[in-house]
Amino acid sequence: MTVLVGVISQKGGVGKSTLARLIAREYAAAGWDVKIADLDISQGTSTDWKQRRELNGIQPEIAVEPFRTVAQALKHASVYDLMVMDGPPHSMQGTLEIARASDLLVLPTGLSLDDLKPSVLLAHELVNAKIPTDKIIFVLCRVGDRENEIEEARSYITLKV
Ligand SMILES: Nc1ncnc2c1ncn2[C@@H]1O[C@H](COP(=O)(O)OP(=O)(O)OP(=O)(O)O)[C@@H](O)[C@H]1O
Ligand SMILES: [Mg+2]
Repeated sequence: MTVLVGVISQKGGVGKSTLARLIAREYAAAGWDVKIADLDISQGTSTDWKQRRELNGIQPEIAVEPFRTVAQALKHASVYDLMVMDGPPHSMQGTLEIARASDLLVLPTGLSLDDLKPSVLLAHELVNAKIPTDKIIFVLCRVGDRENEIEEARSYITLKV
C-alpha cells in the first residue's frame, strides 16, 4: 500500500518544497521506496533538486517526477511505499485535489501572522470540503530558536482552528 502525503499551502514560499524533500529524503534513507510528485510544474523546484542530486551522486536515490494533475501522479503511485506531493501555491483547485487524495496533509507555515492567517484559513477550507481534521497537521518552518514566538504561533493555531 502506498502512503500519500500532500504538502500544501495557498501562500507561496512558506516551505512546501523544502518540507516535501525533507520527508522524502528521510523515508528513503530509512529504506522506503519514495517518489516526489512535483505538482508545481511552473517552478519545478523538486524536479531541479533531483537533477542536482543525480549530477552530484547524492544518495539515497529519490524519484521525482513533474505532474500536471494529481490524477496523473496517482497512476504512478502504486509501485512506491510513499508518494510525497509537492503542491503548487495560489491554486485552490490543485490544493483540494491533493487534499482529497492524501492520507496526511502537511501545512507548512512561518511564525508571522502573515503566514499563520492563510494557513489557518486553508485548514478551514479543507474541513469545509469534508477533509477529516485528523489528516491535517501544521508544521512551523524557519522558526530559529525564538521559543516565545513559537509558543505564540502554536497558541494562535490552537485558538483559530
Ligand atoms: N526550514 C527552513 N529554514 C531555512 N530556510 C528555509 C526553510 N524552509 C524553506 N526555506 C527557504 O525558504 C524559501 C522557500 O522555500 P520553499 O521553496 O520550500 O517554499 P515553497 O512553499 O515550496 O515555495 P513556492 O510556493 O514558491 O513553491 C527557499 O529559499 C528555501 O530554501
Ligand atoms: Mg515549492
